[in-house]
Amino acid sequence: MDQGKQIFLLIMCLQVFLIAAVTDPHDFAALSAVKSNWQNTPPNWIGIDPCGSSWEGIQCSNSRITSIVLSGMGLTGTLTADIGNLPKLQNLDLSQNMGLTGTLPPAIGNLKNLVYLSLVGCSFFGPIPNTIGSLTQLISLSLASNKFNGEIPPSIGNLLNLYWLDITDNKLTGTIPVSNETSPGLDLLVNTGHFHLGQNQLTGTIPPKLFSSNMTLIHVLLDSNQLSGSIPSSLELVRSLELIRLDRNSLNGPVLLNFTGLTNLSQLYLSNNKLTGPMPDLSGMNLVTYVDMSNNSFDASSIPPWFSSLQSLTSLIMERTQLQGQIPDSIFSVAQIQSVVLSNNELNGTLDIGNNYGAQLEVIDLQNNSITEFAQGSGYSKTLMLKGNPFCAKIGSTENYCSLLQQPNTSYSTPPNNCVQHDCNSDQISSPNCKCAYPITGTMHFRSISFSDLGNASYYISLQASMMDAFQSNQFPVDSIALSDPIMDEYDYLDLRIEVFPSNSDSFNRTGFSMITSQLNNLTFFQRPSSFGPFYFTLDNNDYFSGPNKSSNKGIIIGAAIGSSILVLLLLVAGIYAFKQRRKADTATEAAIRLRDPFASWDRNESAGSRPQINGVRCFTFEELKKCTNNFSDANIIGIGGYGKVYRGILTGGKVVAIKRAQQGSLQGNVEFKTEIELLSRVHHKNLVSLVGFCYELDEQMLVYEHISNGNLKDSISGIFKTPLKMNISTC
Ligand SMILES: *[C@@H]1O[C@H](CO)[C@@H](O)[C@H](O)[C@H]1NC(C)=O
Ligand SMILES: *[C@@H]1O[C@H](CO)[C@@H](O)[C@H](O)[C@H]1NC(C)=O
Ligand SMILES: *[C@@H]1O[C@H](CO)[C@@H](O)[C@H](O)[C@H]1NC(C)=O
Ligand SMILES: *[C@@H]1O[C@H](CO)[C@@H](O)[C@H](O)[C@H]1NC(C)=O
Ligand SMILES: *[C@@H]1O[C@H](CO)[C@@H](O)[C@H](O)[C@H]1NC(C)=O
Ligand SMILES: *[C@@H]1O[C@H](CO)[C@@H](O)[C@H](O)[C@H]1NC(C)=O
Ligand SMILES: *[C@@H]1O[C@H](CO)[C@@H](O)[C@H](O)[C@H]1NC(C)=O
Ligand SMILES: *[C@@H]1O[C@H](CO)[C@@H](O)[C@H](O)[C@H]1NC(C)=O
Ligand SMILES: *[C@@H]1O[C@H](CO)[C@@H](O)[C@H](O)[C@H]1NC(C)=O
Ligand SMILES: *[C@@H]1O[C@H](CO)[C@@H](O)[C@H](O)[C@H]1NC(C)=O
Ligand SMILES: *[C@@H]1O[C@H](CO)[C@@H](O)[C@H](O)[C@H]1NC(C)=O
Repeated sequence: MDQGKQIFLLIMCLQVFLIAAVTDPHDFAALSAVKSNWQNTPPNWIGIDPCGSSWEGIQCSNSRITSIVLSGMGLTGTLTADIGNLPKLQNLDLSQNMGLTGTLPPAIGNLKNLVYLSLVGCSFFGPIPNTIGSLTQLISLSLASNKFNGEIPPSIGNLLNLYWLDITDNKLTGTIPVSNETSPGLDLLVNTGHFHLGQNQLTGTIPPKLFSSNMTLIHVLLDSNQLSGSIPSSLELVRSLELIRLDRNSLNGPVLLNFTGLTNLSQLYLSNNKLTGPMPDLSGMNLVTYVDMSNNSFDASSIPPWFSSLQSLTSLIMERTQLQGQIPDSIFSVAQIQSVVLSNNELNGTLDIGNNYGAQLEVIDLQNNSITEFAQGSGYSKTLMLKGNPFCAKIGSTENYCSLLQQPNTSYSTPPNNCVQHDCNSDQISSPNCKCAYPITGTMHFRSISFSDLGNASYYISLQASMMDAFQSNQFPVDSIALSDPIMDEYDYLDLRIEVFPSNSDSFNRTGFSMITSQLNNLTFFQRPSSFGPFYFTLDNNDYFSGPNKSSNKGIIIGAAIGSSILVLLLLVAGIYAFKQRRKADTATEAAIRLRDPFASWDRNESAGSRPQINGVRCFTFEELKKCTNNFSDANIIGIGGYGKVYRGILTGGKVVAIKRAQQGSLQGNVEFKTEIELLSRVHHKNLVSLVGFCYELDEQMLVYEHISNGNLKDSISGIFKTPLKMNISTC
């Protein structure tokens, strides 16, 4: 029996004594067992009453634990199956705890009321258990940025309430599961808005069955996998789509679908595949802002008319797409255009930017083409890249535009808000409001943006304002937000550094810290400006509460209302845990010996009276117990259960005891029996029935308890005795 379960069961036995606690004892036991495998839990996690004494990160309803939010707490350890014993849990957020590792226990599937599950930015590995498909209330499943491997469980298709599916940035393999006669699949998720499956190692084709007209997807992100085959034309049935990322795969064949039916489409990434046939035609798609079809093997073509006709287009990224012929100057005069990247094509003739170029045009990249002339005099003075054209070979590298290889300077940093920044002590940082404090720092990774001019501060200013707005209207303790260092990463995600500063104090307490880091991964929390697509957040300061000179020591230990007897219980639980841990650490040799005879070290050869005692627990002989129960007479039976019978007995000193005798077929393994005795032998408390001794011989397993004839206690004890099967510890 694993140690978590033992603690759990022990606590169940004790529940009658814990009337003072608000928290349901089952929930407390389960949480204690989960906690015992974690380090760095909040310092106020003491006592037996997570609900009543407001353990940080825990929320309850009617004495049951409904929410665990420990985002960014620096937790280390593993998540044990005990988590499955919190049946009322609705929200489990352990995100941004890099030290949380191990596998995700299948018991997670027991959390039938779970609505939100976020493990973003931890170090979990192994398969995503198929039992995840039992969480039918789930709205949000966020497992991004872990090390999960194995296949995507088809059972996810059972999650008909799921709106947000994010398994980005793991090591998932296999194909994308769709339903068949015997198995569910992702095609059943008709209420899901987000499929975020990027940055994995998925293979096979994108199943045509995955998409249907019944779906309500707005984001389909399959980028950076190893998908092959053609893009299924069923994709065009999903009319609600706004963002499609299929880039960085091995998709091939001609693109047969008609994107023009996807009237809400804003961003389309098809780059870095092996697509052939005609370049897709986006004519009339007036909401499209960002198009990247670079690095494909489309048929050679001249520049299509739609390049110059899309009213919302900001970014036209068409590197290495077999474009040829003359460049019409109309492509530079698109109203919103910011970047035109047509490098590594066969564009020729004379380049004429014209006088009508867009007011926001920042970058023209035409490197490695066949341009022979440049009609100057348009007045365009922003970034122009022409290196690798015959024109530059002709004039040499004298002009900037023939040598410039760098993208323009796009640095940004939220400026001070009408105040003067001063130097701060040690590792404090000056906020935009010029207060020195310890911010939450990290990176927001935007999976798409509708712009490419990263140097235009107005985007960050509006983002910052909308984030501030969300924090303030939800009364989060946030003073200000600083954004800085925008950069496009290797996956074409915009990475933006963020610092969130505390109000009222120079640092966040755990509750505030965890609330904020948790919501930084909640897309619906922020009314993002439309320029910013979906994002996820990764935390930098994983040691906020454990680093030196930090707010860690401010953690206020609320030991309130914890009576001494309760503390004893706590110590007991801790003692059992420590004991079990030490057990685990025993050498293999010792373990092997104990397996053969668990009592080998107990010196069974000595005479009965002088046998060693474990914390006052005596080893009785069969004969002794036979005698004191009048040969196990039926008259002495005080309880019967599936495990055997409980007898009243009187020891030689006159002490009244209850003797539980396991019947044949209910005997435990040697090791289990011994462990149980050791466990129970540590229970010594005035309110608890204590173990007096045991008998282990001749196919007999008996446990001898103090017998208390006090009404309530007696009842509860015999009650305990009557429910051994539920308890699983046969003695309880
Ligand atoms: C049905 O789908 C499951 C999981 O995707 C797969 O293992 C199984 O082989 C499929 N069965 C048939 C009959 O295609
Ligand atoms: C769409 O839903 C309707 C009714 O809910 C159902 O009859 C139909 O089979 C579904 N179509 C697809 C392609 O799933
Ligand atoms: C397109 O977006 C608008 C505004 O968000 C929405 O009302 C409309 O239903 C969407 N169209 C489709 C086909 O989903
Ligand atoms: C795509 O749809 C538009 C409008 O329905 C139509 O004009 C065009 O011919 C279609 N293109 C293809 C390749 O089917
Ligand atoms: C196209 O491929 C080249 C190298 O193969 C890579 O350096 C470049 O970033 C790719 N372009 C885009 C837009 O992804
Ligand atoms: C430009 O390329 C096109 C297509 O390859 C070709 O027909 C045309 O003659 C070229 N023009 C110049 C001026 O080289
Ligand atoms: C920056 O972006 C905003 C919003 O798109 C736009 O109105 C403004 O003109 C841009 N500024 C520059 C200098 O391009
Ligand atoms: C242009 O071509 C040269 C030589 O093939 C290559 O080294 C360089 O990286 C190319 N430039 C770009 C922007 O792809
Ligand atoms: C970019 O601009 C910032 C100010 O906006 C300046 O501090 C920085 O030095 C510049 N970087 C480069 C490489 O020019
Ligand atoms: C922690 O911060 C939150 C949010 O500011 C506040 O409501 C709570 O009272 C603080 N808790 C403690 C123990 O100071
Ligand atoms: C995410 O934000 C929305 C809107 O504020 C809120 O209703 C929801 O409960 C949040 N989700 C979590 C897991 O906190």
